[in-house]
Amino acid sequence: MTEALLELARSVGREAAMYVNRVRPKGRVDVAATKSSPTDAVTEIDRACEELIRARIKAARPDDGFVGEEGDDVIGTSGVDWVVDPIDGTVNFIYGIPMYSVSIAARQDAEVVAGYVVNIASGAEWGAVRGGGSWRYDGDDRLLLSAPSVARLSHALVATGFNYVPEIRTKQAEAVARLLPHVRDIRRIGSAALDLCALAEGQYDAYVEEGLKEWDLAAGGLIASESGLLLSGLDGEPDERLVMVAHPSIAEEYFDLVRACGF
Ligand code: IPD
Repeated sequence: MTEALLELARSVGREAAMYVNRVRPKGRVDVAATKSSPTDAVTEIDRACEELIRARIKAARPDDGFVGEEGDDVIGTSGVDWVVDPIDGTVNFIYGIPMYSVSIAARQDAEVVAGYVVNIASGAEWGAVRGGGSWRYDGDDRLLLSAPSVARLSHALVATGFNYVPEIRTKQAEAVARLLPHVRDIRRIGSAALDLCALAEGQYDAYVEEGLKEWDLAAGGLIASESGLLLSGLDGEPDERLVMVAHPSIAEEYFDLVRACGF
């Protein structure tokens, strides 16, 4: 069942990525509206991409629920819900920076059981099933991911992101400034889903972000945890308040440091 959910996520995600590549104009993409703040943009292509994903999933599994970034929630009756970000990294998409993704997760009885992320611009794809590992796709082959251990927290490369609301950003910037002297460096790429896949691949050592929505986290979070990384919130499960990710070799020390920095 979980594999079937993942295969559906992959076939719909690939179609969605092809659609976005086909319709994206050259240069900058027009902003259609803004959401939580004047810099939190959405384009007509985000909306159309989500419509495509909704339609394909509904056709295949009409009784499932759906939670998407750009539309109303659908309450299902099957116990399966889809959690979808049609374009994670919308600002990169608008500017033409090739780091934006489709993120599709399936939740069963409120637990994420399958996750799929595709970098729309490059075509790189990742997948995971709960208890079955995570991988990068090489065609239809699965290259299993095992996040590397970290010898010293002071050498950790840490990825992060910032909320769109100026008051929250001010607090995040202050917390990042306190963190920076204790780690190797900070990266801010602009797609949480791609950040979480990069962590699983060992391209970063740790991650912290406040204000992630469930569609930013669901698929990438499973890919990261199935690669052996630990995810935590401020006091328990990761959530919108705080998401921290690190390899078990530094996790306890890193999570304490993040809290001490005032995130
Ligand atoms: C955003 C990206 C970004 C993160 C923001 C998210 P969106 O998603 O994931 O990396 O820092 O918090 O909102 O708005 O481009 O779908």
